[in-house]
Amino acid sequence: MKINVKVGNITQITCDLLVVNIFKGDKKLTGATKAVDTMLKGIISSSINNREIEGNSSESMLFQTFGRIAAKKVLVVGLGDQKKLTLDVIRNAAAVAIRSAKKIKSEHVVSVLPEFDSELAATALVEGTIIGSYKFAGYKKKQDREFLVKEFTIVEREHKKIPKIKAGVRQAEIWSYAQNNARDLVHAPANKMTPSKIAEYAAQMSKEVGLSCKILDPKKLGFGAMLSVAEGSKDIPKVVVLRYKHSPKAETIGLVGKGVTFDSGGISIKPSRKLWEMKTDMAGAAAVIEIMRAAAQLKVRKNIIAVIPLCENMPDGKAARPGDVITSYSGKTVEIISTDAEGRMLLIDAINYAQKLGATKIVDVATLTGGCVTALGDVASGIMGDINHSIVEEIIEASKSSGEKMWELPLYEEYKDYLKSDIADIRNCTEGRGASPSVGGIFVQAVIGNTPWAHIDIAGTAFLHHSRGYLSAGATGTPVRTLVQWLSR
Ligand code: BES
Ligand code: ZN
Ligand code: ZN
Repeated sequence: MKINVKVGNITQITCDLLVVNIFKGDKKLTGATKAVDTMLKGIISSSINNREIEGNSSESMLFQTFGRIAAKKVLVVGLGDQKKLTLDVIRNAAAVAIRSAKKIKSEHVVSVLPEFDSELAATALVEGTIIGSYKFAGYKKKQDREFLVKEFTIVEREHKKIPKIKAGVRQAEIWSYAQNNARDLVHAPANKMTPSKIAEYAAQMSKEVGLSCKILDPKKLGFGAMLSVAEGSKDIPKVVVLRYKHSPKAETIGLVGKGVTFDSGGISIKPSRKLWEMKTDMAGAAAVIEIMRAAAQLKVRKNIIAVIPLCENMPDGKAARPGDVITSYSGKTVEIISTDAEGRMLLIDAINYAQKLGATKIVDVATLTGGCVTALGDVASGIMGDINHSIVEEIIEASKSSGEKMWELPLYEEYKDYLKSDIADIRNCTEGRGASPSVGGIFVQAVIGNTPWAHIDIAGTAFLHHSRGYLSAGATGTPVRTLVQWLSR
């Protein structure tokens, strides 16, 4: 989809579908909607008067134009109460519009910008359009041909607003496509997206955007904790290191994403209900890979080192057992209580390696705990961090504009007791004491030292069972936009 920004009069632009907005309770139409309504002899206002459309958020109504304006059809989309207009309302409205356009096979869609700060509105409109039109291609023998909108044009009357709108469009395009790519990676099943395949994908992406990429062997690196997870699988584990360099003077951020291509639980095997969903246990890795793409394209002013541990967690004669003690990359020993608490094993080795490579601030992203799903559902990710806490606040701030909700969970000292082992430095989890998202965070914190750090548990938000607004059911690609925005501050 080609996205354009043009100055012009909305009634004179030739297109298949023109999108205009109304607010709930609008007595009088204004702006573009009024201009279109006048040319269409009041058909929109009479539909409002007849209460066929009321302007509720994401409500829509299609009109034929019969040649009265240059557009073939007009879609009126509701934005709800004008006083309550948010970026998410704009994203949802944009998704409604683009989905309708696909349904009625409109190749060229033109839209006005909702009345809001023009850069933010343009960003949200494009996010809703790109993210809202996503569909995973799948593997059907007879692919149903998906109709694709070829062109999406934002038309603005005022010249002076164009630079801001263009800036908003450009950043939104970059991070929204990155987010959709992450969704593709997550949807791909474990037999197709093996650690090696994801590593190849990251290498190819790096070539495209000019990042440095190394594919390393965790055995050679001495990633003992990660290897204890990988041992039961025939798939060869990989560690991908991506680097983005801005300037020697800039700070160096480490990003780590959990990349378990399938989490069976290992010997502590999971029940079979919904087990297929554990193909999504690499959503953190997918997000980090795509964050790196977007960061390179946007030329953010930070140095970034991404360390992405990739492996599968399977039961097997060679698999690690509950009760085993392993030595992690840092030398710290870990008693494995559950082989299903595997994500944190990958995280500690990858985080320590990122520190060794020079990262002075760390953010990790992981589908870490079912407890996070229980606590926050699919609505918000859990975020935790060091006492210093500034990164957590910054990321929560970024999440407010991205719409990817994050809620802070505590890392109380008391939880450290849960992870005391009689025979090793630490154990990987506790049995039945609750607070598992926090305990997962505490486990990771134990290897962090003094590095400022945030941990984002996306177990509930990485995959939706029901569509919600601009996000269709399935992989969400969270928190790509939030972290790219945080990096671009
Ligand atoms: N991958 C799971 C967490 C998960 C659950 C992700 C549901 C997405 C949806 C993780 O590896 C896991 O199994 N965690 C255990 C930890 C426990 C053993 C301490 C859990 O949450 O049960
Ligand atoms: Zn697990
Ligand atoms: Zn897992």
